[in-house]
Amino acid sequence: MKLNLEKVKLTKPFSEYQEKIHRITDLIATKKGPGGDYLGWDRWPETYDKEEFQRIIDAASWIRQNVDVLVVVGIGGSYLGARAVIEALKGLYAQDSLEIIFLGQTFSPTYTQQVLNYLSNKRFAINVISKSGTTTETSIAFRLVKNLLEKQVGKTHAKQAIFATTDKEKGALRDLVNKEGYTSFVLPDDIGGRYSVLTAVGLLPIAAAGIDIAALMQGAKDAMNALTNFDVESNIAIQYAIVRHQLYQEKAVEMFVTYEPHMAMISEWLKQLFAESEGKESKGLLPGSVSFSTDLHSVGQFIQEGSPVLFETTLFVKKPLLDLNVPLETDDADGLNYLAGRPLSFVNEKAFLGTLQAHTGEGGVPVVQLEIDELNAYELGYLLYFFMKSVAYSGYLLGINPFNQPGVEVYKRNMFKLLGKKGY
Ligand code: PA5
Repeated sequence: MKLNLEKVKLTKPFSEYQEKIHRITDLIATKKGPGGDYLGWDRWPETYDKEEFQRIIDAASWIRQNVDVLVVVGIGGSYLGARAVIEALKGLYAQDSLEIIFLGQTFSPTYTQQVLNYLSNKRFAINVISKSGTTTETSIAFRLVKNLLEKQVGKTHAKQAIFATTDKEKGALRDLVNKEGYTSFVLPDDIGGRYSVLTAVGLLPIAAAGIDIAALMQGAKDAMNALTNFDVESNIAIQYAIVRHQLYQEKAVEMFVTYEPHMAMISEWLKQLFAESEGKESKGLLPGSVSFSTDLHSVGQFIQEGSPVLFETTLFVKKPLLDLNVPLETDDADGLNYLAGRPLSFVNEKAFLGTLQAHTGEGGVPVVQLEIDELNAYELGYLLYFFMKSVAYSGYLLGINPFNQPGVEVYKRNMFKLLGKKGY
């Protein structure tokens, strides 16, 4: 991947940040900065538990051989990464022997009931994921889907088809694992939810989807090796953090832009990563997302001519997963023959280039470009690590703790009180 900053004006050269960046690099390496206890993800691509990794591969293969659907139950960091990677690498209508669906990422009764209805005549397994083991959305959904599974195959067989990913000792889910004997995986203490995609949290569903998780980890490891230094002139994670920091002085919103609908969940993962890491102490860029060309027919108008509150970060993939040509028609009634024989990727690329010109030209919108040659497990591992590393820098540049999320507790307290939960 490449960071292209042609369409952004730097207000200060990178070299002016060298000293500060050196200090932040030390804070990350020594884990002495705010939230330093949650830096386990930083060296994870080399320190990860290799024995557990093999167990993940074995569990994924059991799932692929024994059921038709895997239901992944989780929310936030215990959901977004797996879904983002699976959709990015498989597409939205993958024809695979195993279908992966998600539950527990909402209280929506309609969604939940429809998923349960859908599962009622399917052979399915469950991967329940919760670091705390007490998240209400996850717990309710798990209770419901576990009851359905037990009803379908009996308690003993259900146990074989339930895989839990949680803290190694604490929490209600760990207690349940100990009581029921479910196969379980660990989310390490020093890795927070939104930094956990490369742990069992993301790896089990991703491996079950048939994706090469060794390649994913290798990509992340190569990113770790390339991006663990304090050289502002070459380290693209640092450069992206500095550019965002500069743009923050004049803009309120960072709009993530993708050009493939099956990459929209990558934007969702990014929105969580940046919003929960930086949005605190009345600071931070608000992350938004659009999927082009779809949203060029809606939000595109605002980006072109509306309030100048935003900049874009585009993720453009040169080689799509699949491609096809515009067909030739003899009468050319729809006037499309000038494109006949051209691949759709060609049209998509021209849409990208035309939009880039429009937004950065008349629109005056700064655009940070991330250029990706091809989407595969290796490149995605690299990309995920790049973003996690970069937000650590941009969070420290902002002067906040990028690894906590105290703000998310407020709604929970109110909700629990309204629900009549004991102790609230
Ligand atoms: O990033 C985070 O920490 C959160 O988004 C959590 O992942 C989310 O709240 C789910 O928490 P848990 O894994 O404890 O169920």
